[in-house]
Amino acid sequence: MKDFIAIGDCTADELRELLHLSVQGKQIDKLGGRDKSLPGKTLAMIFEKASLRTRMSFQIAMTDLGGHAVYLKPEDVGIIGDREPAKDMARVLARYVHGIMARTYKHETLIELAKYADVPVINALSDWSHPCQAMADILTMYEHCGDLEGRKIAYIGDGNNVARSLAFACAKFKIKIAIASPRGYELDQRSLDMCNDLMPETAVQLNDGFEAAKDADIIYTDTWVSMGQENEKAERVDDFKKGNFQVNSELLSYAPPRAKVMHCLPAYRGMEITDEVAESDRSVIFDQAENRLHFQRALLKKLLFQNPKAKRR
Ligand code: CP
Ligand code: NVA
Repeated sequence: MKDFIAIGDCTADELRELLHLSVQGKQIDKLGGRDKSLPGKTLAMIFEKASLRTRMSFQIAMTDLGGHAVYLKPEDVGIIGDREPAKDMARVLARYVHGIMARTYKHETLIELAKYADVPVINALSDWSHPCQAMADILTMYEHCGDLEGRKIAYIGDGNNVARSLAFACAKFKIKIAIASPRGYELDQRSLDMCNDLMPETAVQLNDGFEAAKDADIIYTDTWVSMGQENEKAERVDDFKKGNFQVNSELLSYAPPRAKVMHCLPAYRGMEITDEVAESDRSVIFDQAENRLHFQRALLKKLLFQNPKAKRR
């Protein structure tokens, strides 16, 4: 594993190892231990968009591991390509740091960074995918459901970056996922096909949230308006409000009582989720947020520790 750009690029064994490292690291953390595997290592964190969880968890993970992170905010980098091309930024940063983490508008920017940087590159969210989120979600699901194989996630909402990475993670961990979206907001057919090629009968696309919720172990949702789609907000909210796409107590009544509620956050109460459900004891949204840190630590250790691509200095 040289970079972490997409779940589909990793083998099931690599992802299982990352899950195992996350569980192990979390146990050590809870006992007050510290794994200082990355002394003297520096991570550059490029953000074209806002962030709370991703920025904080990566920064703290690097500090915990004995290393250091440098934050480049949207005003510093602008839209990559406007000030300088991604391929130049990649080669400059690789002369300074041991790893690059980037949150970009275009997924192609990440691919370009990874192609030209001879240090590991991590996808911290693009318009196409959010693999670090999906792995923190798998960790959370493992903690709440135990064995993952054969479980079912009902993803209610936009067939977006979060839905796509989750679907690929489901294929890798043999979990089933029913995605319910309004017409026009479904996950693209190619991604669905790729997930089902990886593991037959992993992913199904529906247009009814109630139907998706049946037999689900997890009810998952995300914002109806992702970063970069702000000018489509009125139309999107209108389209999502027309069907059964809000995670509320009525939708939960279609799911088994054991089903937990997940959301990658930030959550827009009254839109994709009600405040009542987000605050209920079915909700594990803050466990997910915490697990971003435990997964990030495991990922950084795996990518930057003894990785020839991370040995610039
Ligand atoms: N879930 C997530 O990625 O949160 P941030 O946008 O705050 O990083
Ligand atoms: N789909 C959302 C996720 C935010 C963490 C977005 O891209 O804005």
